[in-house]
Amino acid sequence: MGASIIDGKRIADGIRAEVRIRVERLAARGTVHGLTAVLVGDNPASQLYVRMKGKACEEMGLAHWTITLPADISWPRLREEIGKLNADPKVHGILVQQPLPPQMPVADVVAAVDPRKDVDCFHPENVGLVLIGTPRFAPATPAGVVELLLRSGNDPGGKDVVIVGRSNIVGKPLAALLVQKARGANATVTVAHSGTRDLAAHTRRADILVSAMGSPRTITADMVRDGAVVIDVGTSRVPDPTMKQGYRTVGDVDFEPVKAKARAITPVPGGVGPMTIAMLLSNTVQAAESAEGVPRT
Ligand code: GUN
Repeated sequence: MGASIIDGKRIADGIRAEVRIRVERLAARGTVHGLTAVLVGDNPASQLYVRMKGKACEEMGLAHWTITLPADISWPRLREEIGKLNADPKVHGILVQQPLPPQMPVADVVAAVDPRKDVDCFHPENVGLVLIGTPRFAPATPAGVVELLLRSGNDPGGKDVVIVGRSNIVGKPLAALLVQKARGANATVTVAHSGTRDLAAHTRRADILVSAMGSPRTITADMVRDGAVVIDVGTSRVPDPTMKQGYRTVGDVDFEPVKAKARAITPVPGGVGPMTIAMLLSNTVQAAESAEGVPRT
């Protein structure tokens, strides 16, 4: 059986169209609505992601700014920059791109962002709201995974979902979304990680397998049940002299052999990535609507 490809770009375009309508409604009020990305250091993948997020804002009619800071900036200086953004009424969304340089106290950084502007949904208050089922914002990548499942006709309700990876950005918040007693959730969730004894024994039980390790081509066909739905959140750069930039971006999943076995699968690129950006735009509009007292749609 060959899997159908879940087209993240097409599904993300549908979400963007919904966001655009909300942006137009906000624009009619005559105020500026925007997102500021804070980029610390010169990680090339982070630079690319921040550029893509800025371009996506532009396409939506949202303002965007990027603040680029040196890799050796001190935490007090970064805190000052975040404080200025917290106080700026034009800035409705703030994101501090991760990974951060090793000297940065990541937990303090995410807690320094005003939770009402925390469009990444990384602030502990917002993480807690997700966990108890009353979210202010949707964690972008996990919510993108849920939307991909729903909009491709793969409702996770009642399914065995196995998530590989326990990061604060993907694995943990995705588990928190999927266990809720709610539409697009209600799944039986297993979170596997580097301490899992027999990874394949878990992944083979999955109706829906979500991999978020960042480890290239690690999910092989023998680890996947026939007819499973496979969502690949990983993005890694592997050297490839045939590509003009000298590398290729690949996921965690060994795509072709797994595709032959699965029912549906997301590609990398073009799967989860566009969804993360669409959800970020949606959160930015929501932050602006909340700041201006526009009722939630
Ligand atoms: N690094 C990887 N994914 C993300 C994300 O969604 N937001 C931020 N700020 N950094 C990331």
